[in-house]
Amino acid sequence: MNNYIERFSTSERVLHWIVTASFFTLLLSGLGLYSRLFNGYFTFFGGGQNAIMIHKIAGVVFFFSSLYMYFNHKKDISTFDQDDKEWVIKQGGYLARDPSHFNIGKYNPGQKLFALYIAAATAVLGVTGVFIWLPASFPRWLVQVSLLTHGLMFVGSIMFVVVHVYLATIGNPGTIGAMLYGDVKRNWAKKHHPKWYKEASGENR
Ligand code: HEM
Repeated sequence: MNNYIERFSTSERVLHWIVTASFFTLLLSGLGLYSRLFNGYFTFFGGGQNAIMIHKIAGVVFFFSSLYMYFNHKKDISTFDQDDKEWVIKQGGYLARDPSHFNIGKYNPGQKLFALYIAAATAVLGVTGVFIWLPASFPRWLVQVSLLTHGLMFVGSIMFVVVHVYLATIGNPGTIGAMLYGDVKRNWAKKHHPKWYKEASGENR
């Protein structure tokens, strides 16, 4: 039997990397718009005007690709069952010395929370982004509230993404292969997502 099992299709992986590339482009092009401290980042884009233009283009790409990603895996991230509750009560075993075992499906509750936050942040960042993009077309208070909300949602996103990148790479060895090659080791799947493994493989143990 093949040692690996498919976790993501090619189109799912391409979509995830489009979201990632646009997210980091938004981060680099947006930082200088918030504070003069980060103006140095504008040089990546050939100056402030270019950075603003690239921020808008990356914003449109991120908005549509991230929402598409949400609708694509909505059924896997939007329900929490009894096994998920157990994971939450025991903090996923991350704060215990002994290894813990949970009967987790395709995603654990931490991953679901992350995916739901990113979906909500995408919607809020997109809508507030339009108000900031066309300030003359909207009341001044709305543009100012949007600037504040846009910044706060972004700070939340980057905090979640830092944790996500850590857990998807060095935190849980073997995970990154899922997004690079589309498959994971069967032992990895049995350890981290046993319920999903049983469904995907048809094995009943
Ligand atoms: C270098 C940066 C990144 C790396 C290395 C990375 C890696 C991964 C990996 C390996 C998975 C699959 C996890 C699994 O199979 O259980 C995944 C899933 C996912 N990624 Fe990323 N990712 C990155 C950036 C991002 C960004 C910027 C976003 C969104 C803004 C994002 C959103 C997601 C979502 C929603 C999932 C599915 C739910 C989850 O596994 O948490 N990723 N990522």
